[in-house]
This record gives sequence, C-alpha cells and structure tokens, in this order.
Amino acid sequence: MGLLNGKVAIITGAGNGLGAAYARAFGAEGAKVLVNDLGGARDGSGGSIGPAQQVVDDITAAGGEAVANGNDVSTMEGGQAIFDQAMKQWGRVDILVNNAGILRDETFHKGSEANWDLVMKVHLKGTYCCTKPVFEWMRANGGGTIVNTSSTSGLLGNFGQSNYGAAKGGIYGLTRVLAIEGRKYGIKVMCMSPSALTRMTEDLPRYRELAEAEDGFPVAGLPDTIAQSMVYMCSDLCGMDKSGKVMHVGRPGIAELKVVRSDGWEPDYAYSAQDIADREAQIFFPD
Ligand SMILES: NC(=O)c1ccc[n+]([C@@H]2O[C@H](COP(=O)([O-])OP(=O)(O)OC[C@H]3O[C@@H](n4cnc5c(N)ncnc54)[C@H](O)[C@@H]3O)[C@@H](O)[C@H]2O)c1
Repeated sequence: MGLLNGKVAIITGAGNGLGAAYARAFGAEGAKVLVNDLGGARDGSGGSIGPAQQVVDDITAAGGEAVANGNDVSTMEGGQAIFDQAMKQWGRVDILVNNAGILRDETFHKGSEANWDLVMKVHLKGTYCCTKPVFEWMRANGGGTIVNTSSTSGLLGNFGQSNYGAAKGGIYGLTRVLAIEGRKYGIKVMCMSPSALTRMTEDLPRYRELAEAEDGFPVAGLPDTIAQSMVYMCSDLCGMDKSGKVMHVGRPGIAELKVVRSDGWEPDYAYSAQDIADREAQIFFPD
C-alpha cells in the first residue's frame, strides 16, 4: 500500500530535475501522475513533450500510472488545460505541485525588463495559473494538497538573482495567504525550498563543490532523495497543522524556513527616531 495510493497528482515542470524525481516517487507510492513539462532549455527557450513523455514511460515501466502534458504553466489557458486533462483522465485532483521554473540570472544593475517579466511569468504567474482551477475544484470537493516551490534566493536573498528572488519571494507570500484561505475547505498549502544538484544549479560553484564533498552530499542534495520530502508533504503523514509551512530540503538536511518577529520594543509614549536608534539592540536580531 503506497503512501499516495489512488491520489491524482499534477506535477508541473516534471520532465527534468526535481519535478521528474517527484513524479517517479509519486508513481512508486501509488499516485496517478500528470507529468507536465514544456520541455524547454534552462532559460525557458525551445520545447518538446519528449522529457515529460520519458518520465511517463519510466513510471509506467515501473508499474505506475501517468500521462504527459506539454502545456505552458505561465498562461491561464495552460493552467486550465493541465487541470482539464487530469479531470478528463481521472475525474479528480488531490495534489498539485507547482515546480516548473527557469533561470535568467543577472545582477539588478545589468538586468533587463524582458528577463524580469519572463521569470515572473513562469514562476509567480505560473503558480497562480495552475493553482486557480485546482484551488476552486478542491474548495468545492473536500480539499487537497498544494505545494509551491520557493527558494532561499527569495527567502534569504542571493547575488545576481533579483528577478528570480522576487518571484520566489512572491510565491512564499501566495503560499501563506492560500494556506489561510484554504484551511476551512481542507486545502493544505505548503512550500518546498529545495537545494539540489540539477541542470539549474550544475554550473554554480557552490553546488559543484558540494557535489564533490564527501560528507553525505550529493546524496542529501539529489532530486531522488529530496523527493521523499515531497511525498511526505503530499501524503496523510503530514497534517493540516503543517499548512503554510516551508520545508527547506537538501544539504545539510531537512529544516523549516520561516519569517520571525523579534521580541521588539513596545513604547508607551510618542517616540522619536532617536529613541528607535537607542533601542536597536531590542528591535533587531543580532547578525
Ligand atoms: N535545483 C535547486 O537547487 C533549486 C533551488 C531552489 C529552487 N529550485 C526550484 O525548483 C524547481 C525545479 O527546479 P530544477 O532544479 O529541477 O530545474 P530543472 O530546470 O531541472 O527543471 C525545471 C523544469 O521546468 C520546466 N518548465 C520551465 N518552464 C515551464 C513552463 N512555462 N511550463 C511548463 N514547464 C516548464 C522545464 O522544462 C524543466 O523541465 C524550480 O521552480 C526551481 O526554481 C531549485
């Protein structure tokens, strides 16, 4: 008996990297998987159904059930078509994993509006477009699980990734709001912040160094290892009390990432800017 037996799951961007690993793990746990992927290059150019179909072939060869979908997550038509195909095939959707993504890294100073718009469109709007029909359906049909994909680039910041970090920070905000709005309908909404060796990270020196280290990585940072955290989040092992949470998974392990408020200072008089400066140690966390 698999942890996801009989559940219908949509996974976007599942032709490569993490999404493909999630799809294979979901198939092995008994889920029926819609494997979406535009099949483009890392920067979002080009495209073919080939990578999604390959993952479907892997799942069916292992005895699982899956269908391929080549729609673009970043349009309303694409999001609707992905949902419609799952409904036509299996008549329900229990799980949505918003995972599709591209990179157009550049410093803010050198960055272009075209790259800003494209990265926002694929990541942030793509999450919106795929979630919209699924959230509506889950709201009317007893709930389900949605996992979005953020990144430390958006949650903590990273040099050269202003467009990507802004989109990933926005996905965190969307997750927090949907977790609140979905709670009374039984919709669990969570966030994955992965740290994995994939084509997206393979030429980043930090990831290459980690991949060559001997202390457990790349095992901890391989997509197939990280996929177990996605199985956990989408299974009944992970309850509604975890809705709204971010799992940070990769090296050195598994943790929660969250925004926290300092104890702060509670003034009981009309304070000045100088008063604030005088209480910096109370207001700000030490670095
Ligand atoms: N690898 C990491 O360490 C890391 C870190 C933080 C966040 N992430 C995020 O994890 C997710 C998966 O990344 P990955 O490392 O597996 O990258 P990847 O490039 O291997 O996979 C991303 C997939 O998304 C697909 N895709 C891109 N645009 C699409 C679109 N418009 N419609 C449908 N499919 C589309 C691509 O074809 C590709 O197969 C991304 O959202 C990424 O931003 C990855």
